[in-house]
Amino acid sequence: MNVIFLGAPGAGKGTMAEVVTAKLGIPSISTGNILREAKAKGTPAGLAAKEYMDKGELVPDDVVIGVLKDRIAQDDCQKGFILDGFPRTVAQAEALDKMGVKIDKVIEIDIADEKIISRLVDRRVCTKCGASYHLKNKPTNVEGVCNLCGGKVEARVDDQPDVVLSRLKTYHEKTAPLKGYYEKKGILVTVNGENGIEATAKPILETLQG
Ligand code: AP5
Repeated sequence: MNVIFLGAPGAGKGTMAEVVTAKLGIPSISTGNILREAKAKGTPAGLAAKEYMDKGELVPDDVVIGVLKDRIAQDDCQKGFILDGFPRTVAQAEALDKMGVKIDKVIEIDIADEKIISRLVDRRVCTKCGASYHLKNKPTNVEGVCNLCGGKVEARVDDQPDVVLSRLKTYHEKTAPLKGYYEKKGILVTVNGENGIEATAKPILETLQG
């Protein structure tokens, strides 16, 4: 089962990917997490990505496609995977098709722009494993410490309101057209992402398990 999570920044892609990984046992691949790790390590891909990520712009397609190709070639992806944050442009979706990757379902998590800022301002993320928390909706058991790996949990640099607005603009211009791309293929399923975490996860799990 190969699944794509599509949605605006803060829609809940990473949170829902965690739920599905725990239920279905397939890995979740976040290009955002991979690029943040590469940036922290100062690798060539990380250095190429930094200036774009810090401004809330998309990293060039060739860099991200290369990163994704390497990741899905790993052994743990042989029985399927969840893509969280890839593809983000029609060129990236076409690259997946050219790689021969068959996508079974694309889950669009729908949320109004007005709700995004408050979600992201209160988001906290594990600097080690990338797990996503929220001060009110999903707090860590111990303040500042990841429940899953014990890593340090903190706010993301691109979650400041001005950068979030730039990310939202980029989403509407470059990524939202993918809805039409996958609707034409008959594999797009849209869920309401404005309900609580469990209420949003329910229809997603029903779609993927049914
Ligand atoms: P990335 O890390 O992918 O950021 P994003 O797409 O902007 O998505 P987020 O991680 O911000 O949000 P999310 O939807 O995962 O929300 P979350 O589950 O955390 O990318 C960062 C940057 O990397 C990009 O800007 C770009 O520069 C670059 N990049 C990455 N991929 C790229 C690509 N393919 N091409 C080019 N560039 C790329 O939830 C948000 C908060 O809400 C959390 O606090 C969570 O606890 C809470 N929450 C979640 N769901 C609910 C719910 N249902 N109810 C209440 N609270 C909820």
